[in-house]
Amino acid sequence: MSNGKLIVALDFDNLHSANQTVSQLRGFVEWFKIGGQLFTAAGPTSVETFRNLGKKVFLDLKFHDIPNTVAGAVAAAAKTGANMINMHASGGLEMMRAACEAADMQADALEIPRPLLLGVTILTSIDERSFQRDFDTKRKLRDQVAYLAELSQQAGLDGVVASPLEIEIVRRVCGERFLIVTPGVRPRWAAAGDQRRIRTPSEAIEAGADYIVIGRPITGADNPRETAENILQEIRDHSDL
Ligand code: C5P
Repeated sequence: MSNGKLIVALDFDNLHSANQTVSQLRGFVEWFKIGGQLFTAAGPTSVETFRNLGKKVFLDLKFHDIPNTVAGAVAAAAKTGANMINMHASGGLEMMRAACEAADMQADALEIPRPLLLGVTILTSIDERSFQRDFDTKRKLRDQVAYLAELSQQAGLDGVVASPLEIEIVRRVCGERFLIVTPGVRPRWAAAGDQRRIRTPSEAIEAGADYIVIGRPITGADNPRETAENILQEIRDHSDL
């Protein structure tokens, strides 16, 4: 597998620690994810810092609001130079369409490629039982993921964030070219933590994930670089990709 499929989640409360991890993974990991914690602590500078180092940034702020507000947030996110931006697909078709339009307009204005836009389906920390209980539904979680993926595609998004357990169904519904980004990835030796719908990195890649997101197993390791290397090697050992 190419290293370009691994996205390392920088869930830190300060830019210095994030920077340290990025430099430990220098020349080896291309994509980094900045989420609510780091972005709230360090702001757009966090994205700019890593973009200036030549890294690709997934800005994982999971927007979910009325269409006008999300459109504005997506335009601002595109301006930071982020390469990938996401929003909750449950925000609805209109919200996602407004986001696409805003990203197109901002990309044109700045003369940059439009960032990849992803819909978040159902968080990987939620299992079947809590999904049915919290959403007061008898619907199967995977059917809801497939439904939200189809809605995201209809709105014009480039792909979705889903668990590795739903890759097959999303592929069936949305086809080969629709991007699938999967958190909920855990090597066998790593703690699951709050993740519920998980698979190993090699299982996720073999099932057809375009990108896998891994945070704590790498960032919390004594040697993040060696750990990332081991994960990528394990994937190569188990697949032809
Ligand atoms: O540390 P861990 O590998 O669990 O990190 C996974 C990352 O993926 C976290 O930054 C989390 O915010 C993100 N995530 C996500 N969508 C999900 C589940 C986790 O973007 N459904």
